[in-house]
Amino acid sequence: MAKLKAAVLLSGSGTNLQALIDASARPGYGAEIVTVIANRPDAYGLVRAQNAGLPTDVVRHREFAERASFEAALHEALTARGAELVCLAGFMRVLTAWFVERWMNRLINIHPSLLPVFKGLEVHERVIAAGVRFTGCTVHYVRTDVDAGPIIVQGAVPVHGDDTPQTLQARVLEAEHRCYPLAVDLIAKQRVRVVGDLVQIDGAPPPTGHLINPDPDRATS
Ligand code: GRF
Repeated sequence: MAKLKAAVLLSGSGTNLQALIDASARPGYGAEIVTVIANRPDAYGLVRAQNAGLPTDVVRHREFAERASFEAALHEALTARGAELVCLAGFMRVLTAWFVERWMNRLINIHPSLLPVFKGLEVHERVIAAGVRFTGCTVHYVRTDVDAGPIIVQGAVPVHGDDTPQTLQARVLEAEHRCYPLAVDLIAKQRVRVVGDLVQIDGAPPPTGHLINPDPDRATS
């Protein structure tokens, strides 16, 4: 089966890009990265792409007077590289309905919470303040509402009593680095179907068992 041509859009460090690069080097992985596009020339993700020998494009939002012309340039860069799937990975620009509709069900994002809770920014601060015992990450199809859309893969992690936003972010990122490559591979292998607002995945069973926080096996003495 031909590999799915994926583009990665980012604004920053690109650790999720790195996870996708590493995954696409594995035999049998369903996707290849055809371009890495940044809206800032100083995004470290561009260095990761170049180190992996991948094509890069910089589409600077500041050079465009309007969102529409910025998005038209993004669309053109994606089309020129033959992208079939667009993966947002820390891309810090909100995309308009024009762009989302052009890439409907071919545009995915990763968010560092268990959506639909904790949408938006400063997620880990809000998770700690809420006192929830679990958080995680979500890979989802993009819709015009921010951080909404059919959910493809989620990864759950426990929140520790002494977590700071930084320690929690690091734990969630580890889950992100497993979830994003998994979601892209499932899409590439045509096992993901969007049915209304939901995703159905062919032949991907849920994990067994459950997690409890605090750990009941260590909570009693
Ligand atoms: C991740 O936490 C992702 O969930 C969010 O932006 C961050 C990007 O991190 N959308 P990185 O650039 O992939 O390291």
